[in-house]
Amino acid sequence: MGVGHSRWATHGIPSEENSHPHFDCKGNFLVVHNGIIENYQELKNELKQKGHGFKSDTDTEIIPHLIENFAELGFEEAVKKAVGKLKGRYAIVALNRNSDKMIGVRRGSPLIVGVKNGVKDSDKREFFLASDIPAFLDHTNNVMYLDDEEMVVIDKNERSIKFHNLERREDVEKRLINIGWDAGQAEKNGFEHFMLKEIMEQKDTIMRALNQDVKSIGSMAEKINNAFGTFFTGCGTAGNVCLAGEYIFSKVAGKHINFIVSSEFPNYHHFLTDKTLLIAISQSGETADVLEAIEAAKKKRVKIMSLVNVMGSSLDRKSDYSFLIKAGPEKAVASTKAATSQLALITLLAYACAGKLNEGRRLLIETASKVNDMLNPRYEKHIRRLAEKIYKKDSMYIIGRSLNYPMALESAIKIQEVSYIHAQGFAGGELKHGPLALIDKGTPCIALVAEDEVKDDVISNAMEIKSRGGCIIGVAPENNEVFDYWIKVPDVGDASPIVNIIPVQILAYHLAVLRGCNPDYPKNLAKSVTVK
Ligand code: G6P
Repeated sequence: MGVGHSRWATHGIPSEENSHPHFDCKGNFLVVHNGIIENYQELKNELKQKGHGFKSDTDTEIIPHLIENFAELGFEEAVKKAVGKLKGRYAIVALNRNSDKMIGVRRGSPLIVGVKNGVKDSDKREFFLASDIPAFLDHTNNVMYLDDEEMVVIDKNERSIKFHNLERREDVEKRLINIGWDAGQAEKNGFEHFMLKEIMEQKDTIMRALNQDVKSIGSMAEKINNAFGTFFTGCGTAGNVCLAGEYIFSKVAGKHINFIVSSEFPNYHHFLTDKTLLIAISQSGETADVLEAIEAAKKKRVKIMSLVNVMGSSLDRKSDYSFLIKAGPEKAVASTKAATSQLALITLLAYACAGKLNEGRRLLIETASKVNDMLNPRYEKHIRRLAEKIYKKDSMYIIGRSLNYPMALESAIKIQEVSYIHAQGFAGGELKHGPLALIDKGTPCIALVAEDEVKDDVISNAMEIKSRGGCIIGVAPENNEVFDYWIKVPDVGDASPIVNIIPVQILAYHLAVLRGCNPDYPKNLAKSVTVK
């Protein structure tokens, strides 16, 4: 039995003292923890008064001390009592030096059990507890999901596993689920970084996202059409996909859907009724802000529809209707293939809502095939050459309009998070209200252009930037005299966000590598943000 934990700092700086696991006074109980204990200060003061000593600044350290406090009840009971005192969202794993048991508890943060060698062959059985499946995918793809308020007790000697619901105070049975991913999908497969591998996988993943049951697309479209008040919610890249969805639904289906970033969604609770539909988009299905948003919606009896990548994730299980985007494991922190799969599915749904499912499917299949053509070594080299020209710049700006405005925001996220170049995305029309003041001679500005009704306006905005010294990088189906550097993308109509974001993903990747940054592990960021 052993534990390990990568800590994303919430309380105290990243340091040895603040690293997990944390121990009780005698070093008998140890705990790793993901999430935030909201009442830790109060509990810490109580424990200090009882004579417990603390070595770290973390909220986590109170947990082994609380278990120690109840130690005479036995390990399992002591953990139950200890977690009964905690407020907040968390997943913990606890070990006891004097016991052969490993105990996990989940409330709000993900905790998944991996089971190797099936359930029957108990002699050889191995168990893994992790917050995300790729952590143990090298060993098994058979999983059991813990729900909130559940505890799992793994016994090393008996090779047994037991689940207990802490609220109902009863043992519960779990199904063993094969998630269908294999370890190879979570390997680099010859690529230097996961980010590049995942960008290249878009040759297949967009097509996989479209492979949905026609009947369920139809019935989801009906639910969207019948809802009275529909919202999109998501965070980060998934949030930008939601905003693109807002434009796509408006343009393709004439349907007004509001996007609210998940951390702000609970503030909109006044507008929710039992006829509202909330469409949540998330790669991991575990982002704390997204889960809080759907909890706030559920309190008003809102129906939840979700687009997720991870089957069996909290969002998948808590939704009334859910679509899997089938992108396979995404390991790089920067989301790439998940984003284009989400875009493809949202576009397909918009066409279905407009009663034009077949037309939408044809457009997206053609887009997937054009993405396959785009992602060749020559194309990548062309973008790498651009990166070599601009990688020492301090700032970059990206403009787009209509469907490509959200992609300007997404381009900025991609560049910031992996290369640490200051990047900002704007709606082309907003330039004159401030951002133009930031343009100096040679400032790189990307213009995302499509063959649509706003093309001329974006080109005019690019001209305005160029007139003030900016260097224009055009991502567009056709070259234009305003472009200093042209990256050609196919003309795919309403699917333009998919093809326009891909070259920027490649550019962000190469900017990171040229600046000596590891694009897979950006500083200060996490793949799955399971804290508020
Ligand atoms: C983190 C990741 C982003 C991701 C966002 C939302 O910030 O670094 O890549 O877009 O979370 O994650 P989700 O799993 O909900 O899509």
